[in-house]
Amino acid sequence: MVAVIVPVLWALFQPLSHAAVLNCRQSKPCAASSFTSVLPAGASIEKVASVANGGSYGEGAIDLGYPGSALNLPAVCAVTVRVTQGTSKYRFGLFLPTAASWNSKFLAVGGYSQAGGINWPDMGQGPHYGMATLSSDLGHNSTGADLSWATPDTLLDWGYRALNGSVFLGKALTQAYYGKSITYSYWSGCSTGGRQGLKEIQISPESFDGALIGSAAWDTKHLFPWLTKLATYNLPASDPKHIDVAQFALLAQTVQSQCDGQDGQADNIVSSPETCALDLSAIQCGDPRANATNCLTAPQVQTARNIYSDYVTAGGRFVHNGFSPSSEAQWSTFLSFGAPEDFDVRYERYWLYGDPAWNWTQYTDAVVDDSERIDPGKATADAYDISAFKNRGGKVLMYHGLADGVVPTKSSGLYYNRTAAAMGTPSLQDFFRLFYVPGMQHCWFTPPEVNAPWAFGGAGQATQLLAQAGFGQGWSTPGFLGNAKYDALVALMNWVEKGTAVDSVVATTWSSTGAVARQRPLCPWPKKAVYKGNGNKNDAGSWSCA
Ligand SMILES: *[C@@H]1O[C@H](CO)[C@@H](O)[C@H](O)[C@H]1NC(C)=O
Ligand SMILES: *[C@@H]1O[C@H](CO)[C@@H](O)[C@H](O)[C@H]1NC(C)=O
Ligand SMILES: *[C@@H]1O[C@H](CO)[C@@H](O)[C@H](O)[C@H]1NC(C)=O
Ligand SMILES: *[C@@H]1O[C@H](CO)[C@@H](O)[C@H](O)[C@H]1NC(C)=O
Ligand SMILES: *[C@@H]1O[C@H](CO)[C@@H](O)[C@H](O)[C@H]1NC(C)=O
Repeated sequence: MVAVIVPVLWALFQPLSHAAVLNCRQSKPCAASSFTSVLPAGASIEKVASVANGGSYGEGAIDLGYPGSALNLPAVCAVTVRVTQGTSKYRFGLFLPTAASWNSKFLAVGGYSQAGGINWPDMGQGPHYGMATLSSDLGHNSTGADLSWATPDTLLDWGYRALNGSVFLGKALTQAYYGKSITYSYWSGCSTGGRQGLKEIQISPESFDGALIGSAAWDTKHLFPWLTKLATYNLPASDPKHIDVAQFALLAQTVQSQCDGQDGQADNIVSSPETCALDLSAIQCGDPRANATNCLTAPQVQTARNIYSDYVTAGGRFVHNGFSPSSEAQWSTFLSFGAPEDFDVRYERYWLYGDPAWNWTQYTDAVVDDSERIDPGKATADAYDISAFKNRGGKVLMYHGLADGVVPTKSSGLYYNRTAAAMGTPSLQDFFRLFYVPGMQHCWFTPPEVNAPWAFGGAGQATQLLAQAGFGQGWSTPGFLGNAKYDALVALMNWVEKGTAVDSVVATTWSSTGAVARQRPLCPWPKKAVYKGNGNKNDAGSWSCA
């Protein structure tokens, strides 16, 4: 915890008059002047705005990364800060709840992909919990797939500098506003946001007391070369080995029919893709079991096997995990490019080689060597030994959807295993737990035909529900707001603050009418949800972690 002892002692010696109690419940005015005294040189307040209860807030089109708004906010003071520190330049946003509703906690939320901008939409969740909430723009202004903004300095800001600086200054501004110390600080981020959180607890163990880490794209220097390697498996589109996007559905159906039952329950949810013996010869053209008008040729079957396989260099060196069976419905994210000018090669073009004409046809294993050597922005979060974070009471709650077709699920297992190895301990359970989410895609949602429970207060989930489905209140799990049993962030806070280890979190999904359709516990790996043998399989109570 971040207890600042001096103010606590000071408070103990104050007479507990009614006036003093009232005083604790007041903040400074929501105005730039309330913050200027703690601003270091190079930092300035760009904007301060009062948002009324029920209001929304964002920057609109000038925020290329996050043009949307936080919706359905409680009353907050919204602050935008601009910082220049040496060669580092970034902006960040803060939502400060009213003094009466502030619970003395601080939350920083992550961004996604390579987007540059303050993630106002996801910041909206924090004030509902009572937390002062921050997002950094990570030092640039761009959409998520754009990588052309890269310079050595903007990369370092994206890699870790902007977030680290934003968190330090954001905490100081928060404490100045309320005139009180922050008691506990947390992180919530998914995808690149997961990477950011891991990187920050690695380089700055005192930044957070608890970190909620979703579907983390932590291995930047290997993830991007693997993405290009992935493109080469399926390109050019004119090659007989090419699998068209439309045929991914055949693979998805095949996985569901072969793997769903193998996990013990035929419920449309593939809960053990890692143990499924997938037999793709059953859909190979010419096989008596295959449909002659909907089958894959032998070269296409090999392409599918490549996509599921770990990327290992010709010399036998492991580079990155491949996609897990049940992720096919999201493969179009990286495998649908007619012209592979897109995401796949932008890393090499703009971050490694500074050559906008670099083509995927030039890809060799040497890209991996270059990527390891350069590690653009030092973004890769692979300083696995987080003893310093652990020793000050820090807790990590990590999760990853088993149907993730953007960041391979297995890479979270790899991170977990490497952390255990680096810390020389057989079990991390006392401070770091990994929860797999059967049927969940990247960070949120589930394919309709799978309809797996996937919502549990994970980073950004409530934003997606509200923005895409018009459902929920913009925070936590609709119907179970702020309830630790159904909300991983609250469960994490209870672990940090009360020592209640997170033994399970119930995930929820809804029918189109908004009624709860299915709930099931998520379990800390290596435990899995096991059906008790009786009771409605759509009720969480019919399952236990074993
Ligand atoms: C981001 O870039 C856009 C397009 O160039 C620009 O209009 C906008 O003002 C920029 N936003 C910020 C915060 O600088
Ligand atoms: C993080 O920011 C703080 C405050 O500016 C600074 O003291 C610290 O050195 C930074 N950490 C890293 C790894 O840059
Ligand atoms: C074979 O695939 C075609 C095209 O998807 C489909 O229309 C047909 O119903 C399938 N046949 C069988 C026996 O499943
Ligand atoms: C990349 O290489 C392919 C195959 O040689 C070629 O068809 C394509 O035009 C190239 N793309 C670019 C952007 O140079
Ligand atoms: C992590 O280690 C466990 C136990 O050795 C192993 O079963 C699992 O496959 C490993 N996970 C990954 C992704 O390497």
